[in-house]
Amino acid sequence: MIAPAKRIHELPPYLFARIDKIKQDAFREGIDLIDLGVGDPDVSPPKAVVDALIQNVRGNGSHHYSSYEGLPELRTVFTEWFRKRFNVKLNPHSEVLPLIGSKEGIGHIFFSHIDPGDEVLIPDPGYPVYTAGTILAGAVPKYFRLSRENGFLPDIGELEAIVTPRTKMMWLNYPSNPTTAMATADDFKAVVAFAREHGVIVCHDAAYSEIVFDGARTGSMLEITEAREVGVEFHSLSKTFCMPGWRIGFIVGNADIIGALARVKTNLDSGIFLPVQHAAITALKCCEDDTKRIRDVFETRRNLFVGGLKSLGWNVPLPSSTFYVWAPVPGNADSMEFTMLLLKGAGIVAAPGVGFGSNGEGYVRMSLTTPEARLEEALLRIKKMNLKFS
Ligand SMILES: Cc1ncc(COP(=O)(O)O)c(C=O)c1O
Repeated sequence: MIAPAKRIHELPPYLFARIDKIKQDAFREGIDLIDLGVGDPDVSPPKAVVDALIQNVRGNGSHHYSSYEGLPELRTVFTEWFRKRFNVKLNPHSEVLPLIGSKEGIGHIFFSHIDPGDEVLIPDPGYPVYTAGTILAGAVPKYFRLSRENGFLPDIGELEAIVTPRTKMMWLNYPSNPTTAMATADDFKAVVAFAREHGVIVCHDAAYSEIVFDGARTGSMLEITEAREVGVEFHSLSKTFCMPGWRIGFIVGNADIIGALARVKTNLDSGIFLPVQHAAITALKCCEDDTKRIRDVFETRRNLFVGGLKSLGWNVPLPSSTFYVWAPVPGNADSMEFTMLLLKGAGIVAAPGVGFGSNGEGYVRMSLTTPEARLEEALLRIKKMNLKFS
């Protein structure tokens, strides 16, 4: 057996890979699974975007390597989208960089800014890639607690207690996967002040910025003037325009941070397929109505599913954002046991809260990336389980 690098052994098992394995086993047993496990948007992307892709694939010049920094028009159009959406001006040459999906940038930024032995502050529960990137860079994850009591927001007192001179970076993610919480401008302001005081880079993952319900609005961290001194923000077309498989996102903010990430990228990747870049230009320029259509689909599903769970007696808070339901586990089971119970008892795949960090214990995450009829079927199956909710 050829041994992999030691850092591979240090990686926690990737949550969704574990769920995939469980799914494959159940599939072999012939169970009709309802997959509420992964957040893979199923709503169709804008028609104009699909048309732009097809048209550009046919063009002769489309099949070359593209530049790692993306088409100038793409960066300009994203800058315009950002100004319109958040009233924040960005320099398209130095403060915007397209990514091969936001996850690519989230993974690579550790290599541009983190040295072995550095410490990274990570929300618990949180998106598992922040921990994976930290470990792959030989750094030390230090977790801060998100809990229902503090609105799943960072407690600055706790951050002050765990920060050290080795702390180099911290992660935020609002609207939050998995907790569905949103942050206000004051929340961002407090974190930016903490980061400036301690010389810490703030990476804000805003992948779900457009999946917000009840007419609410979520802001950008960059609306805080000083944020640009210490911070960057990640955006994703995967959620905003339901284009997860297309692999396109953006990093915006501090020009030095983006410049260093760009150096890593020039060495490791060769840009985004040109027709995908042209399609993204169309999405950002012309498809605001589709963002609304997509948001409405998830809001309708949220009302149906959470309303149904509540009527069964499961006291699940109504999520104000994202396409997840972050539900307290009923009874005494832990989140993994309960996930297995849902799978074996109802053929429903969910994500155990503990997979997002130890503070996720006691919760289960269910995705709304499944059509309404399947969510109704899931409700019927849960009803038949006769769970005890108190
Ligand atoms: C919090 C969060 N950030 C980033 C991503 C990555 O999105 P993408 O790489 O498709 O832009 C995801 C995907 O599920 C996510 O949940």
